[in-house]
Amino acid sequence: MCGIVGYVGEKNAQDFLISGLKRLEYRGYDSAGIVTIKDAGGEKGEATLIRAKGKISNLEEKLAKNKREDKIGIGHTRWATHGEPSETNAHPHQAGYIYLVHNGIIENYKELKEHLTEHEFKSETDSEVLAALINSFYKDGKYSLTDAVVQALKLAKGTYGIAAVSVLNPAEIVVARSGSPLVIGVGHDETLIASDASALVGHTKRAIYLNDGEVATVTRNSIEIKTLNAEPVSAKVEEIETNLAAIQKGGYEHFLLKEIMEQPNSLAETLRGRVNVAEGSVRLGGPGLTETELRNIRHLLIVGCGTAYHAGLLAGYYIEQFTPEITVETVIASEYRYRQAYIPRDSVALIVSQSGETADTLACLREIKKQGIRTIGIVNAIGSTIAREVDGGTYVHVGPEISVASTKAFTSQAIAMVMFGLTIAQAKGVKSSILRPYVNEIAKLPEAISATLKEVEEPVKEIAAKYCKYEHAIYLGRDTAYPTAMEGALKLKEISYVDANAYAFGELKHGPLALVDDRFFELALVPKGELYDKVVSNIQEVLARGGHIVAVTNNLGFDLDVENVVKITTNIEIFAPILMNLVSQLFAYYMTTAKGLNVDQPRNLAKSVTVE
Ligand code: AGP
Repeated sequence: MCGIVGYVGEKNAQDFLISGLKRLEYRGYDSAGIVTIKDAGGEKGEATLIRAKGKISNLEEKLAKNKREDKIGIGHTRWATHGEPSETNAHPHQAGYIYLVHNGIIENYKELKEHLTEHEFKSETDSEVLAALINSFYKDGKYSLTDAVVQALKLAKGTYGIAAVSVLNPAEIVVARSGSPLVIGVGHDETLIASDASALVGHTKRAIYLNDGEVATVTRNSIEIKTLNAEPVSAKVEEIETNLAAIQKGGYEHFLLKEIMEQPNSLAETLRGRVNVAEGSVRLGGPGLTETELRNIRHLLIVGCGTAYHAGLLAGYYIEQFTPEITVETVIASEYRYRQAYIPRDSVALIVSQSGETADTLACLREIKKQGIRTIGIVNAIGSTIAREVDGGTYVHVGPEISVASTKAFTSQAIAMVMFGLTIAQAKGVKSSILRPYVNEIAKLPEAISATLKEVEEPVKEIAAKYCKYEHAIYLGRDTAYPTAMEGALKLKEISYVDANAYAFGELKHGPLALVDDRFFELALVPKGELYDKVVSNIQEVLARGGHIVAVTNNLGFDLDVENVVKITTNIEIFAPILMNLVSQLFAYYMTTAKGLNVDQPRNLAKSVTVE
């Protein structure tokens, strides 16, 4: 949820820290701060701590009046868990000689705080308790900073990604993680720290991803990693895949519009080398399952949160269509991890996560692995924790998704899971005449998405402007259009703050129809197909109660007397809901801009939910 940066080297630390925090601002942005230390040549260094409530720009303003040439420092952008967004609660937190930034939650902070009577607490945060605990070991000189951190972490319960510095030794940063990501950038005569590799792009292409239970002591030209039990860890240097262009707006006003418009290319990257139209087949190397193992799968468990959950629901409908004798259960990770659910032995679990760091999804993964079930990741962030802990996996390769509202990841996650389903069906000997239509349409989707975006953007922008005064919305769909309606409702609610909820069309008469009045508008997904007539009847039920309906359809003959219609002429039938979802994405975007709200960093949210 929050962002961490650190720098030690020959350059100006403040410069990297601020630029890094701006890269990570999408991860959490209710307050921010940095501390740098001036080396006093063996004497106690001089710390400059600057913190500000709100956006990084507020911190930048304060920094402009406190420029330093210090060569070491750490920084943090916060998504509040304990204590309101404020300067006092902003990180870094000071305790004696040390300064600490922390992502995660220290669950036993109250108990620990009771014993830290020598520290004068200024904030309401669990993070300051951790800083005070580290200092309680460090202040008498009995422990090095690294060993003081280790002693404190052995007492703390919960999740953390931390970076700590001391004015007594302004040449080293100590970092550690358990449940919240940290990556070490290996530079030339400099070492960089970040909670997300995107902050390192443009500074280095070489990174070491810290694992849970590891502590690293870094200087400008050394990196020493060990476990909390002091076992040395050999650092694995990996290449950072992203490039600068991928994390900048590329001429768009918002990351969200850029990422919506990137979908033809991002889906093409997901499909690259995996679809064989001539043979009517797909091939996924990553899951690492043999033909026999694929053939023996009887149950698919799909786990995710938010948009990832919706992508799993949608993929599940398709997989049931073409794979015989298989049950598909898609679950919300934060619920499933506490259920006492039995998972049949012949199951495989798909763990879906754009960031690969979502705490609930990660916890679910670990529970499922304990039951000996094979886990396959459907992940975007290369090297992320989930990607490294699953048994096998398929990266969706959509590039960094910066906007909090997930768009291109949804499309690629859903299709990647459909392709995984196709590999099961192929192994089970399902006739190619059944599978070929799916493969053919998947291959056409990038171009179809491009054509649809061009076709619908202007009409959707106009319609959205007409509906931006509404505070309530009902999204409707049947079959594969139902999870798509759920995803559309989430998009609208999370960036425009409209109370949007999705219902299966068939459920309307079981209750939700009572909601229909002038406070609501309805967005109805109406794909061609055998359920079309039923959906038309459902729409008429809503019209009869004065519904304000926006219909999205690929049936050019649609002629119901609704308020607005968005027609999709691109000839995609099976995956029409994927194209309809583009309309929902653009509708949410233009409703939000019409309302003058913050598109990429909506209130109360953050891009990667690394706390439970
Ligand atoms: C989607 O727009 C939201 N930002 C949120 O629901 C997100 O999908 C969810 O937190 C899961 O994130 P993940 O894919 O990174 O695990």
